Amino acid sequence: MTIIVTGGAGFIGGNFIHYYLKKHPGDRVICLDKLTYAGNLSTLKPVMDNPDFRFVRADICDREAVEKLFEEEKPDVVVNFAAESHVDRSIENPEIFLQTNIIGTEVLMDACRKYGITRYHQVSTDEVYGDLPLDRPDLFFTEKTPIHTSSPYSSSKAGADLLVLAYHRTYGLPVTISRCSNNYGPYHFPEKLIPLMIANALNDKPLPVYGEGVNVRDWLYVEDHCRAIDLIIRNGKVGEVYNVGGHNEMKNIDIVRLICKELGKPESLITYVTDRKGHDMRYAIDPTKIHNELGWLPETKFADGIKKTIKWYLENKEWWEEIISGEYQNYYEKMYDKR
Ligand code: NAD
Ligand code: DAU
Repeated sequence: MTIIVTGGAGFIGGNFIHYYLKKHPGDRVICLDKLTYAGNLSTLKPVMDNPDFRFVRADICDREAVEKLFEEEKPDVVVNFAAESHVDRSIENPEIFLQTNIIGTEVLMDACRKYGITRYHQVSTDEVYGDLPLDRPDLFFTEKTPIHTSSPYSSSKAGADLLVLAYHRTYGLPVTISRCSNNYGPYHFPEKLIPLMIANALNDKPLPVYGEGVNVRDWLYVEDHCRAIDLIIRNGKVGEVYNVGGHNEMKNIDIVRLICKELGKPESLITYVTDRKGHDMRYAIDPTKIHNELGWLPETKFADGIKKTIKWYLENKEWWEEIISGEYQNYYEKMYDKR
């Protein structure tokens, strides 16, 4: 089987490539990635010499480049991770989100139609469902929850999801969609909550918690997400959406406190800063469908996953120190200095 993985130099796509090459030796894996600020070739260093693997630098919005790759590789399966993924950046500049997340999805699916594939899988997010109130712990997102987005990022992801379902209905494209909760683990870009707090704590810098830190996210170890996607592309029903999440809800402030404790850093580093605009209160996935239909269950408990993650950041300082020493400095100043 030949599989194109877009966005494979990013956090989840990179973890997926590592997972997939180990799990399915002999399958051909091609990573298509533009290498934006979030893409990092050092994430793929361990597999660069693997004969089953090829890296191609290209933009998913570039029709000519995408078609050339399909012509050369004749993929069976396409898994689309490529996206602008950070909510705060989407609030600053929505346009690139609409371009990559919606138009890029269209270009990829057009190539799938033209060359023929057995599956197009769209990696979506629980954020398309909007948020849940903090005082209703009985409520969860199911696949039937209406789309109701809050940020330019989630709106662009929802737009892409609707397009994917439309390509299935109109053209019969064999698609599936997964909507996962917050991931954490190795190779996570340090603009996101967990890696940012680990990096700042290790550098004894303030830990900027938005608002009162009471917002709730449902955290899943990245490898559990990768396994879910692998199951969906093999055994999932065409035309279906699968929610992925591990019933692991935590308040932001509790995560930051836990990171301080694990690293032996004082909680006095915690600094409350101006809240994110339109900040979603709570995400909580009901994963019953993927469990009942595909037998998926998360394998890594948060208590173990966060320890493994912190250990990875301690042992792979060169990976994230290189990131935070570059253009990231300007981003950090812009987002946090006067917050
Ligand atoms: P990321 O920002 O770490 O990586 C995105 C990757 O896509 C980068 O390698 C980047 O270079 C590449 N890319 C961006 N624009 C591109 C373009 N136009 N053409 C080709 N490549 C491009 O993102 P992530 O956190 O790994 O998320 C991957 C996917 O999973 C996204 O679609 C995101 O919406 C979804 N998702 C993320 C989470 C999470 O917690 N991180 C949870 C659920 C779903
Ligand atoms: O739920 C899935 C989504 O999870 C994905 O679709 C997104 O691509 C991914 O970025 C993530 O979105 P969030 O907005 O939930 O993740 P983030 O790490 O940016 O923030 C997590 C929570 O922490 C959120 O409530 C905002 C808060 N936060 C974040 C940062 C970066 C802070 O309090 N301080 C910070 O500095």
